[in-house]
Amino acid sequence: MTYRPETLRTLRLDAAAVIARYPAPRSALLPLLHLCQSVDGYVSPDGLAFCAETLGLTSAEVSAVATFYSQFKRQPNGQYTLGVCITALCGLMGGDAVFERLSQYLEVGHDQTTADGMFTLEKIECNAACDYAPVVMVNWEFFDNQTPRSVIELVNDLRAGRAVNPTRGPGPVATFKQVSRVLAGFEDGLSDQGPGAGPSSLAGLRAAGMAGQAPTPGALTDQAPTLAAETPSPTAETPAVAAETSIAEETEPTSPKEAG
Ligand code: FES
Repeated sequence: MTYRPETLRTLRLDAAAVIARYPAPRSALLPLLHLCQSVDGYVSPDGLAFCAETLGLTSAEVSAVATFYSQFKRQPNGQYTLGVCITALCGLMGGDAVFERLSQYLEVGHDQTTADGMFTLEKIECNAACDYAPVVMVNWEFFDNQTPRSVIELVNDLRAGRAVNPTRGPGPVATFKQVSRVLAGFEDGLSDQGPGAGPSSLAGLRAAGMAGQAPTPGALTDQAPTLAAETPSPTAETPAVAAETSIAEETEPTSPKEAG
Protein backbone atom coordinates (compact mmCIF):
# COMPACT_ATOMS: atom_id res chain seq x y z
CA MET A 1 0.00 0.00 0.00
CA THR A 2 1.21 3.48 -0.81
CA TYR A 3 -1.02 5.45 1.59
CA ARG A 4 0.78 8.17 3.51
CA PRO A 5 1.20 7.28 7.21
CA GLU A 6 -1.36 9.83 8.42
CA THR A 7 -3.92 8.64 5.84
CA LEU A 8 -3.38 5.04 6.85
CA ARG A 9 -3.67 5.91 10.53
CA THR A 10 -7.01 7.64 9.99
CA LEU A 11 -8.27 4.83 7.76
CA ARG A 12 -7.44 2.26 10.43
CA LEU A 13 -9.23 4.25 13.13
CA ASP A 14 -12.32 4.67 10.95
CA ALA A 15 -12.24 1.02 9.90
CA ALA A 16 -12.09 -0.10 13.54
CA ALA A 17 -15.20 1.97 14.30
CA VAL A 18 -17.04 0.37 11.39
CA ILE A 19 -15.95 -3.19 12.16
CA ALA A 20 -17.08 -2.81 15.78
CA ARG A 21 -20.68 -2.63 14.55
CA TYR A 22 -20.63 -6.17 13.18
CA PRO A 23 -20.41 -9.59 14.84
CA ALA A 24 -17.74 -10.70 12.32
CA PRO A 25 -15.14 -8.39 10.69
CA ARG A 26 -15.81 -9.65 7.15
CA SER A 27 -19.38 -8.35 7.45
CA ALA A 28 -17.92 -4.82 7.34
CA LEU A 29 -16.65 -5.18 3.78
CA LEU A 30 -19.31 -3.07 2.06
CA PRO A 31 -18.92 -0.02 4.35
CA LEU A 32 -15.14 -0.35 4.21
CA LEU A 33 -15.24 -0.23 0.42
CA HIS A 34 -17.29 2.98 0.70
CA LEU A 35 -14.75 4.28 3.21
CA CYS A 36 -11.92 3.67 0.75
CA GLN A 37 -13.91 5.46 -1.94
CA SER A 38 -14.27 8.43 0.40
CA VAL A 39 -10.47 8.68 0.46
CA ASP A 40 -9.44 7.73 -3.08
CA GLY A 41 -12.58 8.52 -5.06
CA TYR A 42 -12.82 4.88 -6.16
CA VAL A 43 -11.81 1.41 -4.99
CA SER A 44 -8.15 1.80 -5.79
CA PRO A 45 -5.59 -1.03 -5.63
CA ASP A 46 -4.53 0.44 -2.28
CA GLY A 47 -8.12 0.46 -1.03
CA LEU A 48 -8.64 -3.10 -2.14
CA ALA A 49 -5.47 -4.21 -0.35
CA PHE A 50 -6.46 -2.27 2.78
CA CYS A 51 -9.86 -3.99 2.94
CA ALA A 52 -8.30 -7.43 2.43
CA GLU A 53 -5.62 -6.89 5.07
CA THR A 54 -7.99 -5.30 7.60
CA LEU A 55 -10.71 -7.92 7.29
CA GLY A 56 -8.55 -10.99 6.82
CA LEU A 57 -9.87 -11.63 3.32
CA THR A 58 -8.08 -12.43 0.09
CA SER A 59 -7.80 -9.75 -2.56
CA ALA A 60 -9.87 -12.01 -4.82
CA GLU A 61 -12.70 -12.04 -2.27
CA VAL A 62 -12.66 -8.26 -1.95
CA SER A 63 -12.44 -7.78 -5.70
CA ALA A 64 -15.38 -10.14 -6.24
CA VAL A 65 -17.57 -7.91 -4.08
CA ALA A 66 -16.22 -4.60 -5.40
CA THR A 67 -16.95 -5.63 -8.98
CA PHE A 68 -20.45 -6.92 -8.22
CA TYR A 69 -22.05 -3.70 -6.98
CA SER A 70 -22.31 -0.76 -9.36
CA GLN A 71 -21.82 1.76 -6.54
CA PHE A 72 -18.21 0.67 -6.27
CA LYS A 73 -15.98 2.19 -8.93
CA ARG A 74 -12.83 0.57 -10.21
CA GLN A 75 -11.51 3.72 -11.83
CA PRO A 76 -11.38 7.31 -10.56
CA ASN A 77 -14.92 8.62 -10.37
CA GLY A 78 -16.06 12.16 -11.03
CA GLN A 79 -16.95 14.48 -8.17
CA TYR A 80 -20.55 14.01 -9.23
CA THR A 81 -22.12 10.85 -10.60
CA LEU A 82 -24.95 11.75 -12.95
CA GLY A 83 -27.28 8.76 -13.12
CA VAL A 84 -29.98 9.01 -15.76
CA CYS A 85 -32.82 6.53 -15.42
CA ILE A 86 -33.45 4.89 -18.77
CA THR A 87 -35.85 2.17 -17.60
CA ALA A 88 -39.08 2.05 -19.60
CA LEU A 89 -41.14 4.75 -17.90
CA CYS A 90 -38.36 7.31 -17.48
CA GLY A 91 -37.00 6.47 -20.92
CA LEU A 92 -40.36 7.10 -22.57
CA MET A 93 -40.96 10.26 -20.55
CA GLY A 94 -37.70 11.79 -21.79
CA GLY A 95 -34.92 9.92 -19.98
CA ASP A 96 -33.38 8.72 -23.22
CA ALA A 97 -33.33 12.27 -24.56
CA VAL A 98 -31.86 13.55 -21.27
CA PHE A 99 -29.04 11.01 -21.44
CA GLU A 100 -28.26 11.82 -25.07
CA ARG A 101 -28.18 15.54 -24.29
CA LEU A 102 -25.84 15.07 -21.34
CA SER A 103 -23.62 12.71 -23.31
CA GLN A 104 -23.38 15.23 -26.13
CA TYR A 105 -22.76 18.19 -23.82
CA LEU A 106 -20.20 16.49 -21.56
CA GLU A 107 -18.60 14.55 -24.42
CA VAL A 108 -18.67 11.25 -22.50
CA GLY A 109 -20.67 8.06 -22.79
CA HIS A 110 -22.07 5.61 -20.26
CA ASP A 111 -19.72 4.95 -17.32
CA GLN A 112 -17.23 7.53 -18.51
CA THR A 113 -15.80 10.54 -16.65
CA THR A 114 -15.21 14.01 -18.04
CA ALA A 115 -11.61 15.07 -18.58
CA ASP A 116 -11.82 17.62 -15.75
CA GLY A 117 -12.88 14.90 -13.28
CA MET A 118 -16.16 16.63 -12.47
CA PHE A 119 -18.77 14.21 -13.81
CA THR A 120 -19.24 10.50 -14.34
CA LEU A 121 -22.24 9.80 -16.54
CA GLU A 122 -24.25 6.63 -16.10
CA LYS A 123 -27.37 5.01 -17.41
CA ILE A 124 -29.21 3.61 -14.41
CA GLU A 125 -32.19 1.37 -13.89
CA CYS A 126 -35.45 2.23 -12.12
CA ASN A 127 -34.95 4.17 -8.89
CA ALA A 128 -38.50 3.58 -7.66
CA ALA A 129 -39.31 7.20 -8.41
CA CYS A 130 -41.38 6.54 -11.51
CA ASP A 131 -44.00 9.11 -10.46
CA TYR A 132 -41.37 11.80 -11.11
CA ALA A 133 -40.13 10.50 -14.47
CA PRO A 134 -37.75 11.21 -15.94
CA VAL A 135 -35.49 11.07 -12.90
CA VAL A 136 -31.79 11.97 -12.68
CA MET A 137 -29.68 11.09 -9.65
CA VAL A 138 -26.71 13.22 -8.64
CA ASN A 139 -24.63 11.20 -6.21
CA TRP A 140 -27.83 9.27 -5.49
CA GLU A 141 -29.96 12.31 -4.67
CA PHE A 142 -33.19 12.77 -6.62
CA PHE A 143 -33.71 15.35 -9.31
CA ASP A 144 -37.27 14.85 -10.50
CA ASN A 145 -39.06 15.64 -13.76
CA GLN A 146 -35.92 16.53 -15.63
CA THR A 147 -35.64 17.76 -19.21
CA PRO A 148 -32.70 18.05 -21.63
CA ARG A 149 -32.62 21.74 -20.78
CA SER A 150 -32.78 21.43 -16.98
CA VAL A 151 -29.89 18.94 -16.79
CA ILE A 152 -27.61 21.29 -18.69
CA GLU A 153 -28.41 24.01 -16.14
CA LEU A 154 -27.72 21.46 -13.42
CA VAL A 155 -24.24 20.53 -14.65
CA ASN A 156 -23.39 24.17 -15.34
CA ASP A 157 -24.33 25.08 -11.75
CA LEU A 158 -22.28 22.21 -10.32
CA ARG A 159 -19.31 23.05 -12.51
CA ALA A 160 -19.49 26.69 -11.40
CA GLY A 161 -19.48 25.62 -7.74
CA ARG A 162 -23.00 26.86 -7.09
CA ALA A 163 -24.98 25.05 -4.38
CA VAL A 164 -27.49 22.68 -5.95
CA ASN A 165 -30.39 21.21 -4.00
CA PRO A 166 -32.14 17.98 -5.01
CA THR A 167 -35.90 17.93 -5.50
CA ARG A 168 -36.18 15.62 -2.50
CA GLY A 169 -33.61 14.90 0.20
CA PRO A 170 -30.92 17.00 1.86
CA GLY A 171 -29.08 19.73 0.07
CA PRO A 172 -26.87 20.99 -1.25
CA VAL A 173 -25.67 17.94 -3.13
CA ALA A 174 -22.44 16.59 -1.64
CA THR A 175 -19.43 15.31 -3.56
CA PHE A 176 -18.86 11.65 -4.37
CA LYS A 177 -16.21 11.38 -1.65
CA GLN A 178 -18.43 13.05 0.95
CA VAL A 179 -21.37 10.81 0.11
CA SER A 180 -19.11 7.75 0.19
CA ARG A 181 -18.17 8.56 3.77
CA VAL A 182 -21.83 8.73 4.75
CA LEU A 183 -22.44 5.38 3.04
CA ALA A 184 -19.56 3.99 5.09
CA GLY A 185 -21.64 4.78 8.14
CA PHE A 186 -20.38 8.18 9.26
CA GLU A 187 -23.39 10.43 9.73
CA ASP A 188 -23.42 13.91 8.25
CA GLY A 189 -26.47 14.88 10.34
CA LEU A 190 -28.57 15.53 7.25
CA SER A 191 -30.52 12.28 6.94
CA ASP A 192 -33.84 13.88 7.91
CA GLN A 193 -33.26 17.14 6.07
CA GLY A 194 -34.92 18.38 2.91
CA PRO A 195 -38.28 17.48 1.35
CA GLY A 196 -39.39 13.87 1.70
CA ALA A 197 -42.26 12.41 -0.28
CA GLY A 198 -43.46 14.68 -3.07
CA PRO A 199 -47.05 15.46 -4.07
CA SER A 200 -47.25 12.73 -6.70
CA SER A 201 -46.47 10.02 -4.14
CA LEU A 202 -48.85 11.52 -1.60
CA ALA A 203 -51.61 11.59 -4.21
CA GLY A 204 -51.16 7.84 -4.52
CA LEU A 205 -51.48 7.44 -0.77
CA ARG A 206 -54.65 9.52 -0.75
CA ALA A 207 -56.08 7.48 -3.58
CA ALA A 208 -55.27 4.31 -1.65
CA GLY A 209 -57.00 5.78 1.40
CA MET A 210 -60.06 6.58 -0.64
CA ALA A 211 -60.18 2.98 -1.81
CA GLY A 212 -60.62 1.86 1.80
CA GLN A 213 -63.58 4.14 2.44
CA ALA A 214 -67.21 3.50 1.70
CA PRO A 215 -67.98 5.18 -1.62
CA THR A 216 -70.23 8.16 -1.54
CA PRO A 217 -72.13 9.40 -4.54
CA GLY A 218 -69.85 11.49 -6.74
CA ALA A 219 -66.79 10.91 -4.54
CA LEU A 220 -64.50 9.82 -7.32
CA THR A 221 -65.61 12.49 -9.72
CA ASP A 222 -65.22 15.07 -6.95
CA GLN A 223 -61.76 13.88 -5.95
CA ALA A 224 -60.17 12.99 -9.22
CA PRO A 225 -59.70 16.57 -10.47
CA THR A 226 -58.21 17.57 -7.09
CA LEU A 227 -55.64 14.80 -7.21
CA ALA A 228 -54.76 15.60 -10.78
CA ALA A 229 -54.37 19.27 -9.97
CA GLU A 230 -51.96 18.51 -7.11
CA THR A 231 -49.82 16.24 -9.24
CA PRO A 232 -47.22 18.24 -11.14
CA SER A 233 -46.83 17.28 -14.74
CA PRO A 234 -43.59 18.05 -16.55
CA THR A 235 -45.54 18.91 -19.63
CA ALA A 236 -49.01 18.81 -21.02
CA GLU A 237 -47.61 17.42 -24.25
CA THR A 238 -46.96 13.76 -24.98
CA PRO A 239 -43.52 12.63 -23.71
CA ALA A 240 -42.04 12.13 -27.17
CA VAL A 241 -43.19 15.54 -28.35
CA ALA A 242 -41.97 17.14 -25.11
CA ALA A 243 -38.48 15.67 -25.45
CA GLU A 244 -38.15 16.73 -29.07
CA THR A 245 -39.46 20.19 -28.33
CA SER A 246 -37.06 20.64 -25.42
CA ILE A 247 -34.08 19.79 -27.62
CA ALA A 248 -35.25 21.95 -30.48
CA GLU A 249 -35.90 24.94 -28.24
CA GLU A 250 -32.56 24.82 -26.46
CA THR A 251 -30.25 27.61 -27.32
CA GLU A 252 -27.28 26.82 -25.07
CA PRO A 253 -24.02 25.59 -26.61
CA THR A 254 -23.71 21.93 -27.49
CA SER A 255 -20.53 21.43 -25.44
CA PRO A 256 -18.64 23.12 -22.62
CA LYS A 257 -15.94 24.16 -25.07
CA GLU A 258 -18.44 26.23 -27.01
CA ALA A 259 -19.63 27.78 -23.75
CA GLY A 260 -16.04 28.86 -23.12
S1 FES B 1 -38.49 4.04 -14.43
FE1 FES B 1 -37.21 5.67 -13.73
S2 FES B 1 -37.57 5.74 -11.60
FE2 FES B 1 -38.78 4.05 -12.26
